[in-house]
Amino acid sequence: MNAPQRKQSLQLDAHGRLRHLLTLEGLPRELLLQVLDEAEAHDKALRGQRKKQDALLGRTVINLFFEPSTRTRTTFELAATRLSADVLNLQVAASSTSKGETLFDTLKTLEAMQADMFVIRHESSGAAHFFAEHAAPGVAILNAGDGRHAHPTQGLLDLFTIRRYKGGAGESGSDCFAKLTVAIVGDVLHSRVARSDIHGLRILGTREIRVIAPPTLIPAGIEDMGVKVFHDLERGLDGVDVIMLLRLQKERMLGAFLPSPGEFHRDFGLTRARLARLKPEAIVMHPGPINRGVEIEGDVAYGPRSLILQQVSHGIAVRMAVMSMILGRPAESAPRRSRR
Ligand code: NCD
Repeated sequence: MNAPQRKQSLQLDAHGRLRHLLTLEGLPRELLLQVLDEAEAHDKALRGQRKKQDALLGRTVINLFFEPSTRTRTTFELAATRLSADVLNLQVAASSTSKGETLFDTLKTLEAMQADMFVIRHESSGAAHFFAEHAAPGVAILNAGDGRHAHPTQGLLDLFTIRRYKGGAGESGSDCFAKLTVAIVGDVLHSRVARSDIHGLRILGTREIRVIAPPTLIPAGIEDMGVKVFHDLERGLDGVDVIMLLRLQKERMLGAFLPSPGEFHRDFGLTRARLARLKPEAIVMHPGPINRGVEIEGDVAYGPRSLILQQVSHGIAVRMAVMSMILGRPAESAPRRSRR
């Protein structure tokens, strides 16, 4: 078995069903669409009277966040709670990992408490894979961000948001990707979100994917992922339908990757004036947290074309979909897709 096949056999069971969610890379289009459809049903339920479901009743979900997080951790927690799971948030700084316990020993200790699912965020690329490789049978691992590698649920909620606003809900809405030009702008080099977005957008057949950044913030060989590279913001944004901004990840920058945040803003920041020159229906997204006045002006972040807060809200429904597809029953009103 080659490396990509081994990766997929870790994520998917013999029937092609999701066992762990580690990366979007290589996942079948049908599976991604199933997540989006089930998320639609959860989103609808969340906006109605019956917010709570029992798909994960009696199950235990442990959130293990080794890196800071606001949106991802809380929406995972809320998603699991809405599905009636018991949720534990391990305080990593106050846990035995700070005494030198290895990831393996932490996993085995928490598994002994009969955890069913771990949601893990870690600074090392590959940490979630490591957990999945060593997890006991039946224990699921969800990657909530590993180093610069992947952030699959963010990728899914971004796809969900694009489909919602550019294609409408449901199966036919998914055709919208073939008509869209999506630009990912900013610190692509350090961004696991960019990688997951690119994989997801490609799987759903997006017409054109661009990455726009200074050369120092573009990883070598990114063209091999099927994207076009631009170093000029105005040219790169010409004709785009979706603008995905990324945070400058100063905490991951070891050397001098850019002159200064002020200069980055001058050349690559999304301002109201720049937005006014784009297609009127172009939408603005950002995974958060934002650096106001660096990659985005505050007015744009909370302006009428921004979907940043919708992305946060969609994160709950998308995470409910993934959790219930792995551990519980699918949402009752979701359209059925063939499961291979
Ligand atoms: C992102 C992350 O942690 O990868 N944020 C998120 O999950 N919403 C992006 C970032 O930190 O800039």
